[in-house]
Amino acid sequence: MDNLNVMITEDEIQEKVAELAKQIDKDYEGKEPVIISVLNGAVFFTTDLLKKMKTPVELQFVQVSSYKGTESTGEIKMKKDLDISIKGRDVLIVEDIIDTGHTLKSLKSYLLSKNPASLKIACLNDKKARRQVDMEADYVVFNIEDKFVVGYGLDYNDKYRNLPYIGYFERIPELEQEDDRDER
Ligand code: IMP
Ligand code: MG
Repeated sequence: MDNLNVMITEDEIQEKVAELAKQIDKDYEGKEPVIISVLNGAVFFTTDLLKKMKTPVELQFVQVSSYKGTESTGEIKMKKDLDISIKGRDVLIVEDIIDTGHTLKSLKSYLLSKNPASLKIACLNDKKARRQVDMEADYVVFNIEDKFVVGYGLDYNDKYRNLPYIGYFERIPELEQEDDRDER
């Protein structure tokens, strides 16, 4: 695919995700966390991570959309909400990327309002240079530079999610990227 470069190879992703799985197994020993995977982008990361973990888990999916163009930062709409109560449970959010931080910040406060016993975040990619709000994940697989990335779940205009590697565009294709980030 012209204009698309490999940033992180499939092998490197698998190796680092396996390391994270081990770490999470250690940290959650004796527990049975609820994994909350954020649709659609985190699906590939979530399934690979969970397959490499030994900890028994309960898997939930949420889908959120953000209100763009307002200053009411951190306001999200749950397009798909939890199917279970997380009260008193150990919760681990699994997300594809932290960019400005708005999505995770508001999702985190929404989930905290449900009174889990604990709440942590595992994120595949972290673009620290783009942060607008104070938001850090507990586990980060890759700290990446400020480039628009696709593949391994990440999309551009809903395409490229099924690339087995993480790639970046030399030049971003036609569409304005900002308008296109509603489906987290
Ligand atoms: P935030 O609220 O700005 O942190 O937005 C995070 C969401 O924006 C992610 O869940 C992605 O859907 C999207 N996003 C941010 N950066 C990228 C990127 O480089 N490629 C693809 N999607 C991205
Ligand atoms: Mg997206």
